[in-house]
Amino acid sequence: MHKTSEWLQSFSSEKNLKAPSRSLITDGFRPCRKISITGGKGGVGKTSIALKTAQQLAQAGFRTLLIDCDSNLSNTAIKLGLPLDNKFEKLLSAEANFEEVVIQRGNFHLLPACNGSVEVFESKIKFDEIIIDIISSHEHEYDYILLDCPAGVSREALTLNAYCDHRWIIVTPDKSSITDSYSLVKLLATRFGIKENHLLINMYQNDKQYQKVVHTLTETIQNFLGVRTNVLGGIKKVEVSAEGFDTFFLSEAKSEWQKNFVKLLYGFTEKDGGPTALQINGATQMAHEHDVH
Ligand SMILES: Nc1ncnc2c1ncn2[C@@H]1O[C@H](COP(=O)(O)OP(=O)(O)O)[C@@H](O)[C@H]1O
Ligand SMILES: [Mg+2]
Repeated sequence: MHKTSEWLQSFSSEKNLKAPSRSLITDGFRPCRKISITGGKGGVGKTSIALKTAQQLAQAGFRTLLIDCDSNLSNTAIKLGLPLDNKFEKLLSAEANFEEVVIQRGNFHLLPACNGSVEVFESKIKFDEIIIDIISSHEHEYDYILLDCPAGVSREALTLNAYCDHRWIIVTPDKSSITDSYSLVKLLATRFGIKENHLLINMYQNDKQYQKVVHTLTETIQNFLGVRTNVLGGIKKVEVSAEGFDTFFLSEAKSEWQKNFVKLLYGFTEKDGGPTALQINGATQMAHEHDVH
């Protein structure tokens, strides 16, 4: 495995270097896949989609860790209705270890960050380095590690995006969301040499609107940046009250909406892992149950 420090240092040089190359799937061993759920803009659904994806991957039998990378405005635990304890501070100060801070629900593990912690605010810690160290130490325990990224295009957020195998850019039909995701892709391409991303359209209202966003973004990104975009699909805007949203979004009850999400996810895991992904207990079941083609 590459050293985190070496990888980070590579970005200090003049040249734009690529993320480390991945080992190939050999003899049934499938390396942990790291996905950052990102998008530049706030409020586009990153945290909701990260949680839903982690929950569904775990449900399908994949050992899944979700890391909340919004260091001091952590939302993952809130959306799950869990108490906020800022235990992550203890991990940063080495008073607690990973196992003591991670929340475990079967195959789904969650590492929440902090909420308004003065210690985190005052500290000089490099959050990206801490997260990359956590990933390096624990990736062998998981099939998937998902990063719920903060809004913005800080160096730390971009470094984490570039470190992952895949970037899911979450975009809504809102003009500022489209512009922000383009800026993110541009910075990732020019500064980190990232030439491929995934795109997920959230909160669209009709097929015409969905097609327009896909077309505008993929073409512009390809033509001006030479970057490839894999379209994951879309999630329609749901008409539920703000208070009822998290419960609805994370519900696993059978519905057209749920079926559509699983289909989108299955499309990704199939392309990402091929037959090896199917060998993992539960994923085959997911494919049959939902009749995905
Ligand atoms: N598909 C959707 N339909 C309707 N509202 C949505 C949808 N996705 C997200 N939202 C709304 O956007 C809010 C912000 O979502 P969140 O996942 O916290 O975004 P982010 O992490 O990008 O800031 C949610 O609380 C919800 O009200
Ligand atoms: Mg968020």
